[in-house]
Amino acid sequence: MEKELVIVLDFGGQYNQLIARRVRECDVYCEVKPYTMSLDELKSLNPKGIIFTGGPNSVYDDASPKYDSAIYELGIPILGICYGSQLMAYGLGGLVKTAPVSEYGHTETIVDKSSVLFKGINVSENNSTVCWMSHTDYIAEVPKGFRPVAHTANCPVAAMECKERKLYAVQFHPEVMHTREGLKMLRNFVYDVCGCSGDWKMDSFANATIKQLREKIGSGKVLCALSGGVDSSVAAVLLSKAVGKQLTCVFVDHGLLRKNEGDEVEQVFGPNGNYELNFIRVNAQERYYKKLAGVTEPEKKRKIIGEEFIRVFEEEAKKIGSVDFLVQGTIYPDVIESGLGDSAVIKSHHNVGGLPSVVDFKEIIEPLRMLFKDEVRKVGRELGIPDYLVDRQPFPGPGLGIRIIGEVTPEKVRIVQEADYIYREEIAKAGADKGLGQYYAALTNMRSVGVMGDFRTYDYAVALRAVCTSDFMTAEAAELPWEVLSKVTNRIVNEVKGVNRVLYDCTGKPPATIEFE
Ligand code: XMP
Repeated sequence: MEKELVIVLDFGGQYNQLIARRVRECDVYCEVKPYTMSLDELKSLNPKGIIFTGGPNSVYDDASPKYDSAIYELGIPILGICYGSQLMAYGLGGLVKTAPVSEYGHTETIVDKSSVLFKGINVSENNSTVCWMSHTDYIAEVPKGFRPVAHTANCPVAAMECKERKLYAVQFHPEVMHTREGLKMLRNFVYDVCGCSGDWKMDSFANATIKQLREKIGSGKVLCALSGGVDSSVAAVLLSKAVGKQLTCVFVDHGLLRKNEGDEVEQVFGPNGNYELNFIRVNAQERYYKKLAGVTEPEKKRKIIGEEFIRVFEEEAKKIGSVDFLVQGTIYPDVIESGLGDSAVIKSHHNVGGLPSVVDFKEIIEPLRMLFKDEVRKVGRELGIPDYLVDRQPFPGPGLGIRIIGEVTPEKVRIVQEADYIYREEIAKAGADKGLGQYYAALTNMRSVGVMGDFRTYDYAVALRAVCTSDFMTAEAAELPWEVLSKVTNRIVNEVKGVNRVLYDCTGKPPATIEFE
């Protein structure tokens, strides 16, 4: 039996894989395809539904991405999101123009519950729900045959539909978790409009991937960049299950790890650990500190750490002999935020943008490239990886290097390691980690005046960060209990030499990012 498929047609927005993943959460298989895919190719995939993504352009600009209008005649249900909604309106004769008032973030949206899109959603008395907006253009007039089915104070067409033609559009982003009822709206679209039955489950991913990896690798040798974080650990275990001892995991201790982390990784994956693989630990601390000396610019630091990482790898690979594949635990947010595809570059992620152009391996394998963090965790659990590893909070490839603002020195690494250890310890003791996506201490580059034991001090400020997020694309600052914050503050200033001030970061993402650099 052919699997049900929904296609997300990518027009360059930041959240395209997130849309696909939300549809997969509804147990319907979903893939992202570029808007350059021809109509014939699209038809040949026989999708049950199509979703147009957002994007940074204005549809009325000649150069903006468009799609063959014949797509509206196929009888396949379509949902346009943000730019995608405007594209649908414009393509079918509606009016799209610059909105007098742009809308960003949480926006009260009044919905017409007679639309199938809003079936069963929770609304307040005046039929409103919170949706997440991000737009400067809007649909001023709907095309013939359509009716508006939602509006906000500043947006007359926050959603529109043409039920007969199964065409739907929303100006807001139902895929982000800040749109309270967004998942239900997507579910309504795929089940009630597209007629899907939900024949796909996430748990088929691990087995299918192990099988594919085994076929692809054959008798080849595989080298895996293991950091001990959730992503590379899950990638390593997938590979270990696929090809066993053909896999060598190289763990680079770049001196930018959390306190004790190097030894913990060795315990799990080393010779006395749980998995069938070869494990090599490279102690490269000094090498990294030397390269990073005097460097303050965040992107430059990321590039140096990324390149050095690959150099260490090349050396190890040479010692091992011929290596066919290099495995990395890249996950989807790493890919999208590094600006591959049509989205804007936010940061060069260590495992993608920082790669030097010449790599001495036949091919790079990234088995988790299309997954989000919580999907990776699901795969990890399915593989039987212990909870304490699977639930470990994410740690970026460049490590503390991007949590130390400005120049990295061994002394600053010590400070941030100690402060972070105390922070994690107190959060665990208080059981305050429930609902936190990520939390850590960073070292600001700021020194300020303080007084300790009647003496003037001029020391560093440590910043504490804790965010709630499940997809890591957007996040809210966590409201940590004051008792925890004050206990951590006290302990840090008392126990960590060189710190006389502790700050808490209250910023969400956007506008900040989760990491400081
Ligand atoms: P940002 O700071 O971009 O972080 O909001 C989003 C998530 O990605 C992690 N992160 C990285 N992970 N290599 C990684 O493997 C990197 O270079 C990198 N930079 C950020 C970050 O910790 C958060 O979970």
